[in-house]
Amino acid sequence: MSDGLKFGAATAAYQIEGAARADGRGESIWDRFAHTPGRVARGDTGDVACDHYHRWRADLDLMAELGLEAYRFSISWSRVLPEGEGAVNSAGLRFYRELAEGLRERGIEPIATLYHWDLPQALQERGGWAERATAQRFGEYAVLMAAELGDVVREWITVNEPWVIAFQGHAHGTKAPGIRDWPTALRVSHNALLGHGLALQAVRAAAPDARAGITLNLAPVVAADAEDDALAVERMDGHLNRWFLEAVLRARYPGDMIDLYERRCGPLDWIEDGDLPLIAGRTEFLGVNYYAPMRVRADASRGPIGVRQAPPGPPTTGMGWEVAPDGLRELLVRIKDDYGDVPIAITENGAAYRDPPASNGRVEDPERTAYIEAHLAALRQAVEAGVPVERYFVWSLLDNFEWEWGYDQRFGIVHVDFETQRRTPKQSGLWYRDYIRRMRNGEG
Ligand code: FCB
Repeated sequence: MSDGLKFGAATAAYQIEGAARADGRGESIWDRFAHTPGRVARGDTGDVACDHYHRWRADLDLMAELGLEAYRFSISWSRVLPEGEGAVNSAGLRFYRELAEGLRERGIEPIATLYHWDLPQALQERGGWAERATAQRFGEYAVLMAAELGDVVREWITVNEPWVIAFQGHAHGTKAPGIRDWPTALRVSHNALLGHGLALQAVRAAAPDARAGITLNLAPVVAADAEDDALAVERMDGHLNRWFLEAVLRARYPGDMIDLYERRCGPLDWIEDGDLPLIAGRTEFLGVNYYAPMRVRADASRGPIGVRQAPPGPPTTGMGWEVAPDGLRELLVRIKDDYGDVPIAITENGAAYRDPPASNGRVEDPERTAYIEAHLAALRQAVEAGVPVERYFVWSLLDNFEWEWGYDQRFGIVHVDFETQRRTPKQSGLWYRDYIRRMRNGEG
């Protein structure tokens, strides 16, 4: 594949770190949400998770054994700024510095995500992402992190999946902070993008040669019924994909979606002059998370966009998500066709399955291996079609706290026994190790 393409794995702070109250960490909206009865399956929380905060050295050794070339982790805002602003928690800063240095020592490129959904609760009390001020606070936090870590972290992702932050967090309420209000969700989508723009500026100012981008969750949208659902496809594509792609890469929101949202949710009068040029500031790459296509059906009773999800075609993963590797190729080629040669990082791709327990140091997970292998083949086709892909991260390094599903959904290429915290590379992890080795030796 292309020379610059590096292979790694991804995680996020709340999903793996645990140590929720250690060393001065403040509360985040995910601590609050997970501790609210009924929000997360079986009442699971990230209090302990993979205890990565205490076990990071061994976890880095494991990454080196797997031959990872890059590692995408996220920084917990409330670990470094317990109140979201103001007093800095030096223990938190030290943790991320040691982590990044430890990666470099092992020849693994660190890629830090500044926001993977764990807003400091203190900022939520003041309105959270529904307030523009939160984007400002995020920009300040980005200044701090780039200044503190800019010498060891050269690649930054500002915000992970603003669609999920906005709509799962504030329209459907299935993720923290669990709000159900479409006008609020739309405002949040804008403020999260504004935060991205401010963070880009911050990273540039503090570390001029750093590379920075945003991660979007994108998916090809497919009609359940080709005849009846064309408009539903257009709308869902506008809602999920174009709203974010156009803003970040074209400094505009799609006109059809502005009209629809204004008709159904009221004026979008919180978009201020200058916001969109800021949101579309220079980026070195676009982060893409791809898991599955989205099948849709028109349904006028469903929310402002009048679309509902149709059942996925088989086969599906443990999450019930459709396995469709060609969707990745299709998506990447579409980005190139519509937006030109934007360098792409696949910042997440992977699958949850009901793995058997580790036995004699082995975990057999052939379905996960097949999933990753097929998606890497689709990626290769996209590269051959001229898409400039420069990173690929498996989600996830470790089995971890899968948000509202808790520990039930295992995405890791490394199995975690949550009773003992023992790690066992799954067969998929060993396959991936060999794959990376083959690619490096030019045997691809
Ligand atoms: C993505 C999230 C990631 C993980 C995967 C399965 O939406 O960014 O944290 O939960 O889905």
